[in-house]
Amino acid sequence: MPDPEELKQFHDLAEEIKALGADSPEYKAFETVISQTDAMLSALSKKPKNGPVPVVSERNRSQLVGAHLMIGNAAEKLLGTEISEALKEKVRNLADLAAKNHRVLRSYQPDKDPKSLPRLLEDARTVTVDTRGTKLADSLSGAQSRRQPIVYMDDQGKKTAGVFTPKKVNDYWGDLQKIFEAEADDPRNALSQDAKDMLKGFLENYWNVFPQVVQYNRHGTLNKDPRGRRELDLTSMIAGISDVRTNKTSPAFLANAFKIAYPQLQGQDLNRVFGAGMMERLSQKTDPHFVSTGIQVDSAGIMDGSRTDTRNAAMYSVAELFGVSHLVAQAVPMKLIGENGEAVEGTFMMKAKGMDPENLPQEAMYINEDSLTGTNGKGYRDLADLQVLDYLCGNVDRHGGNMFYLFDRNHKFCGVQAIDNDCSCGLLVPSNKNNVNKLVVPKNMKIISRSMYDKVMTMQPEELRFALRGFGLSEKELNCSAKRLVNLKAELKKGAVTVVEDKDFRKINARKLSQLKAKDAQGNGLNLFTRASNQICAFTRFRMDQHGVYNDFADTDAIGEYNRALPGATDREIEKTDLLLQWMDRVTNTGFWHFHKGTSPQFEAMREAARNYKEYQQRIKARIDNANSPARKNDPDAPYDALVREEELEEMARLKKRMAETADTYLAGKGNATRNPYTRSRKEVAGFVKAFGQTGETVKEEEIQTLRKQGKRADEEAARRESAQQGPAAGL
Ligand SMILES: Nc1ncnc2c1ncn2[C@@H]1O[C@H](COP(=O)(O)OP(=O)(O)O)[C@@H](O)[C@H]1O
Ligand SMILES: [Mg+2]
Repeated sequence: MPDPEELKQFHDLAEEIKALGADSPEYKAFETVISQTDAMLSALSKKPKNGPVPVVSERNRSQLVGAHLMIGNAAEKLLGTEISEALKEKVRNLADLAAKNHRVLRSYQPDKDPKSLPRLLEDARTVTVDTRGTKLADSLSGAQSRRQPIVYMDDQGKKTAGVFTPKKVNDYWGDLQKIFEAEADDPRNALSQDAKDMLKGFLENYWNVFPQVVQYNRHGTLNKDPRGRRELDLTSMIAGISDVRTNKTSPAFLANAFKIAYPQLQGQDLNRVFGAGMMERLSQKTDPHFVSTGIQVDSAGIMDGSRTDTRNAAMYSVAELFGVSHLVAQAVPMKLIGENGEAVEGTFMMKAKGMDPENLPQEAMYINEDSLTGTNGKGYRDLADLQVLDYLCGNVDRHGGNMFYLFDRNHKFCGVQAIDNDCSCGLLVPSNKNNVNKLVVPKNMKIISRSMYDKVMTMQPEELRFALRGFGLSEKELNCSAKRLVNLKAELKKGAVTVVEDKDFRKINARKLSQLKAKDAQGNGLNLFTRASNQICAFTRFRMDQHGVYNDFADTDAIGEYNRALPGATDREIEKTDLLLQWMDRVTNTGFWHFHKGTSPQFEAMREAARNYKEYQQRIKARIDNANSPARKNDPDAPYDALVREEELEEMARLKKRMAETADTYLAGKGNATRNPYTRSRKEVAGFVKAFGQTGETVKEEEIQTLRKQGKRADEEAARRESAQQGPAAGL
């Protein structure tokens, strides 16, 4: 039985909230919906006396989706009233949990993959991938984040490729400070104590005087943030020491800043104080931080103390909410066990679909201007919809390289998928005046699809806030997302964007496309139609510049490819072996004759092998379950006990191979004997045991279905025979 820890958390929080209590009608409404939902959840997770926990039907699913949405709504209303801090915190936590459940239930497909509620929630838990002993691909360069390409085998035997971004709590100031400290402490610099102190104290001193530096460089006067938030001042500080012509930090300007921050340096040669090349090195090292700080803090409003990686998952959730999840590469929380055994939290983004402009495949040679005409229109609809999504999420970094492009068989443009959504869901609330960095404001959108228009106009701010819960965003950030929705609705109402029927996107031709493009005075694209079409037209050239190198990181062995014992897999292995054992019982328990003749030792050896395998898996499962139990939450050994060890994998493989061998022996002994129907069904079961025992191969879901059906048939047949009290000689 999966551990329904998520349900217990929900229940406990609901109880704690009820214990705190309050008088308002908003509180009463909230209490009612959480009690009702809690009752529904626990009814669906109870194991009846005889039989397994029921699967969640479509009806259950839609009821639960509705109930969780009601929790979201009621929570937002309650949080808007005067309640105690303690209650507020619990309400937020419960809303976070409800939002997670809601996402799981919304994407659950009872007709395709029926599951019980505990199983559903367990499958949705954060995946842990153990990378020890695996040579990982080089990490991809990233201005904002480092991304590690990962290919792993999930517990259902599906190969999944994507990029992992480790959790990082933003500390813009601290990151810069480290650069100055590293130079100060580098023994190769052989600095005097004075010089060391000046380097270490530079940022603080510069912060105190930066309006003077900015004026000195004739950038105009820039004022400090009155609330004293240093991360907000960083962009102004950059302006003080960067050269407008190159847009880069200038060593000469940095030297000036040092002289203003430390008047005693005036008239001195800084090469003598700090050693030759110090200003150049500092400029080079700080520059990338300044660029990302500018985009993240100044444009997107993502402040110190918040996380960046989870924003990718948050934006995916908004895409799902608006029914356009195909527009954004899916991102989910993940834990990675690194080389030294340390567990790293972070976010995993599935490998995006389409062509990566930074890493173009050979076929990109065939993509050109012609790809943009005579299309099915889906690509343009995607662009229109993505502009809206980016606006709602306040994403300021949608340049042409942060989208993958899809083309159909005739090389016609037919879709985009967005990556790199780090710079979204911050405090930015753009006006309609000008784009903010790469964020497209309504007046530059030009068109919107009918379907997106309808969804935006009917979407309630509470729903959007609820979809963004559970990703560690601040309440302020949630408020700002609601404001962006309200602003967009107002602009759409004014008719700032032309509504185009979904089916009419196919009519976009060269002339129409040129009307959709928007550029600023310098020729920079102001919307996605311009950026995407420019990018696509340059594919042939880009491909040539990349010198034929194309690297698909999904083309490697998956972590766990030869191992069916990833977290969760033990459960499935036990279930599957159980089915096999049950089937063996059915085909051997053939009534009266069975007692006289029994079964062959070869068949029993096979059964024994299956039992051994099941017992071994059960032993490991017990350890994993124990390690995952709340009681061991703070036990540092627990994460390791929750993993399957190398030697255990080997033992599993050995036990499984033994199953295949015993099946082989049985089958060899039976040769061509098919006349006897019992032999036939025993041979069939041996065939499955053999397939299942071949390590490295996954038993397919259809095979399991066949097993179930055949088991049922065998049951019926046995019952019939038994009542007739006669049968052929058993024991073969
Ligand atoms: N989800 C993804 N699927 C496939 N490739 C990706 C994905 N995310 C990033 N990449 C690759 O990594 C490169 C850099 O990642 P990106 O997220 O854009 O970081 P940054 O813009 O900060 O450099 C991308 O240009 C792309 O080649
Ligand atoms: Mg990028």
